[in-house]
Amino acid sequence: MISTADLCRQFRVGDSVVHALDHVDLQIDGGDFVAVMGPSGSGKSTLMNILGCLDTPDDGQYWLLEQPVAELDDDALSRVRNLKIGFVFQSFHLLPRMTALENVLLPLRYSDIDVGAARARGEDLLRRLGLEDRMDHRPNQLSGGQRQRVAIARSLINEPPLLLADEPTGNLDSRTSDEIMDLFGEINQQGQTILMVTHEEEIASHAKRLIRMRDGRIEHDSSHS
Ligand SMILES: Nc1ncnc2c1ncn2[C@@H]1O[C@H](COP(=O)(O)OP(=O)(O)OP(=O)(O)O)[C@@H](O)[C@H]1O
Ligand SMILES: [Mg+2]
Repeated sequence: MISTADLCRQFRVGDSVVHALDHVDLQIDGGDFVAVMGPSGSGKSTLMNILGCLDTPDDGQYWLLEQPVAELDDDALSRVRNLKIGFVFQSFHLLPRMTALENVLLPLRYSDIDVGAARARGEDLLRRLGLEDRMDHRPNQLSGGQRQRVAIARSLINEPPLLLADEPTGNLDSRTSDEIMDLFGEINQQGQTILMVTHEEEIASHAKRLIRMRDGRIEHDSSHS
């Protein structure tokens, strides 16, 4: 599903250059559930942003679903971002004026699904996430865990082959975090590929594979040991 070769990303700040990603080679098969750990500043979010096509590498190659991402034009890139990738952030990124259900349905604007079917799919996802009686609430009327579940429903509405999550439980208490991890485990069992950044060993233990980053490099990959 994912393949990178010599992926590099540098940031120039004043006179110094930060090598946020330093020749990263990474292969992820469909159906995998990968946790990415590593100290603050080790390049985890930079990697996720590039894999999510939200940022572009300075050097190296990235293939997503056999396609070289560098060769996609802006239009194709928006479609890939919208249809192939679900992205969950630590801070939810919900639109405040929209209800939970409206937030979940947002990414469907690029797909040709009809309104009724879309609504049914959105309601079904929210129900599965235990939010059947919160569909018409706005984000400020929801708890942190509920907001994150809305964000997860939104990330899954297009049934993207790849789910990327950057510290999805970073703002949640441990009970809610466990619920989110149970959900990730369940959808992974059903075939969803997941790549997730976390600072917590306990959260990472839900994944099948663990990657540790340091100074922009992959320092350890449990699939190689
Ligand atoms: N836009 C930017 N401009 C300059 N430097 C950046 C930028 N984004 C990231 N960096 C630097 O790149 C390095 C990697 O950052 P990144 O956000 O990927 O780390 P991280 O592993 O996600 O850390 P954390 O665990 O704190 O989220 C850091 O040294 C950071 O300061
Ligand atoms: Mg980060």
